[in-house]
Amino acid sequence: MTWDMKFGGKVYDWFGRHPRSYRVVRWVSCLGREQFFHRRAIAALGLKSGDTVLDLACGTGFNHAQLARQVGPGGRVIALDYSAGMLVEARRRAQKGGWRQIEFVEADATQPVLNRGSLDAALCTFGLSAMPGETEAIRQVARALKPGALFVVFDAKPFTGLLRLLNPIVQPLFGYSTNWNYTKDVIAALQAAFVEIEVEEHNSGCNYIAVCRTSAARPSSATRSITRLRAARRASPSRCSLFSKEELNNVEG
Ligand SMILES: C[S@@+](CC[C@H](N)C(=O)[O-])C[C@H]1O[C@@H](n2cnc3c(N)ncnc32)[C@H](O)[C@@H]1O
Repeated sequence: MTWDMKFGGKVYDWFGRHPRSYRVVRWVSCLGREQFFHRRAIAALGLKSGDTVLDLACGTGFNHAQLARQVGPGGRVIALDYSAGMLVEARRRAQKGGWRQIEFVEADATQPVLNRGSLDAALCTFGLSAMPGETEAIRQVARALKPGALFVVFDAKPFTGLLRLLNPIVQPLFGYSTNWNYTKDVIAALQAAFVEIEVEEHNSGCNYIAVCRTSAARPSSATRSITRLRAARRASPSRCSLFSKEELNNVEG
């Protein structure tokens, strides 16, 4: 199959009009553990009050409650997506939640729409694997981040191990329904653009959280966050833990 922006735009405009269907697809894509993964990915950003954070390919705004809470009323959440349909639903949610710190940007992530060095952190959940031209989008994020800042990616890839037997069914199913390009290597593209990258795999390799850091000119809370990740990996190399259970429990869903 081929993956292109036009097809993706149609798919996501449809999902924007049918948010419940989108919710089901998301739930299945995380094998039912979506709250766990999102809390973990957002905790890894190491956000503080007043920060400016990008939610790349924000979709219906699944991350926005947590991001808005963490940056506080004085911070900014830049919610970027190219699907007008998805943004309609994300705006509706933000209005309902009263999150005025969210700014919506309808744009193609592969274009230079973000100001250089303007972001304290960036997040992308289930976006890069469904985005034609992800290498350019990653370059744009790296350019827009401040020195030493983090880009946290939560995404999906084919199963490994015994569950790989499911790949011939899962790949075309999600390929057609979500524009998911299971053939591309997002992790390799991140490795090419960032000086440091740590990857944590879950669900037989089909979900992963990648924490990527730009080259640091000065220490930041983001640097501290990745240092802790490394310390955790040293302590338990087989099952790296970004944050303790207590810390994750402190991040409300
Ligand atoms: C699977 S959805 C993920 C949405 C959201 N991040 C989430 O976790 O629910 C993929 C999103 O990527 C967006 N997208 C795909 N290609 C894009 C591009 N080139 N520029 C901006 N958004 C894009 C789609 O419109 C869609 O909202």
